[in-house]
Amino acid sequence: MNITVIGTGYVGLVSGVCFSEIGNNVRCVDKIASKIETLQSGGIPIYEPGLQEMMMKNVEAGRLTFTTDLSGPVSESDLVIIAVGTPPLPSGEADLQYIEAAAREIALSMKGYTVVAVKSTVPVGTNERVNSIIASLTDQPFDTASIPEFLREGSAVKDAFNPDRLVLGVQTQQAADLLLELHRPLTENLVVTDIRSAEMIKYASNAFLATKISFINEIANICDKVGADVDEVAKGMGLDRRIGPSFLNAGIGYGGSCFPKDTHALIQIAGNVEYDFKLLKSVVEVNQAQRWGIVDKLLEALGTLQGKKIAVWGLAFKPDTDDIREAPSLEIVPKLVEFGALPQVFDPVAAENFRREYDHESITFAESALEAARGCDAVCLLTEWGEFVNIDLKEVEAVMNQSVLVDGRNVYTAQRVKETGFDYHSMGRPA
Ligand code: UGA
Repeated sequence: MNITVIGTGYVGLVSGVCFSEIGNNVRCVDKIASKIETLQSGGIPIYEPGLQEMMMKNVEAGRLTFTTDLSGPVSESDLVIIAVGTPPLPSGEADLQYIEAAAREIALSMKGYTVVAVKSTVPVGTNERVNSIIASLTDQPFDTASIPEFLREGSAVKDAFNPDRLVLGVQTQQAADLLLELHRPLTENLVVTDIRSAEMIKYASNAFLATKISFINEIANICDKVGADVDEVAKGMGLDRRIGPSFLNAGIGYGGSCFPKDTHALIQIAGNVEYDFKLLKSVVEVNQAQRWGIVDKLLEALGTLQGKKIAVWGLAFKPDTDDIREAPSLEIVPKLVEFGALPQVFDPVAAENFRREYDHESITFAESALEAARGCDAVCLLTEWGEFVNIDLKEVEAVMNQSVLVDGRNVYTAQRVKETGFDYHSMGRPA
């Protein structure tokens, strides 16, 4: 199948590589020439384990190319995938200007029957808007479709080939047949539905996962007060198949480019039809409060943060990514500075991205986790990178001024901490 993917951001690039890997001829288009140059020379603008190797393999096989020219690829494609950004507007609503611009450009280049599928996360009704834009500009036959993305950053390559399900929102059998043929090698579990429902499935799924996280975080806060262990509670709950074990890891709350944006957008979508989505509003509120919870734990352990050196381990919103969008670190580190602390921060890959967003004379960017801890009064773990999980805690303790460890992701077992002299605090587990 000939496929054009518009937008080489996270979703577009991973999809392009994945569809070429299963034998399709894919052209990835982006307006930003520097991004295309990077990709053409074998580099990737994002950090995603395994992606670059798979990309190179398909480039060498001649199935995957990158270009700034949209018209040539679109005119030869059976399927055009729109994977451009939908950043939040100040109101929380998704900004659809890039989607609409892509639709206009596609319409002017399409030749013969083409399926135009939106992969970006868009509010219900957006595909209809795309359909009417294209219809107003061309008389070529086409269908629109909604094929939402469920990949997680950091495990996108693995997720792409082992999806729980894929959702295909279509309006005609012809579009359904084409999309079924494309996606069948990836999974048998294909949900074919109408376009509006497909658009809603994406928001509802992310909102539900965010709800699970805020729920377990509130249970953790209660566990802290009643002396229960949230990990045991989550394990006991998760064994019930109706609940399931995933997304019940308590911590400092969710971040990233999806959950914060999509929860706000769904609240707004509901608001637009005069529905007050109270539950989701609380989920967002709880997530915000959770970030301050870890600062409170540091304050409790140290008495004051004024002049205290605090090692911050992890800046990315989660491990295995350099993404710091909506990362808890972006609020927690400035808060530490506000309280007069001297953060010594370290992240294996996200430090530069963090520094571009926030820097301050009180902050030191360290070269390793151990260097970050040197001379510190406390270590505060914000992202559960493997190297922090597996670090020799005794070695860390030896370089510190005071041995306080505040674990925002519950990565250490009581047994491991017991072997050290750390004053250990975690989220919803007894000290
Ligand atoms: C999320 C969804 O998991 C994907 O299915 C979806 O495709 C993607 O958004 C998207 O809409 O594009 P992602 O944001 O990459 O993926 O990351 P997750 O692994 O879902 O983690 C999101 C946040 O939740 C992270 O900050 C993570 O630390 C936090 N989290 C996750 C918890 O605090 N506890 C958990 O139990 C799980």
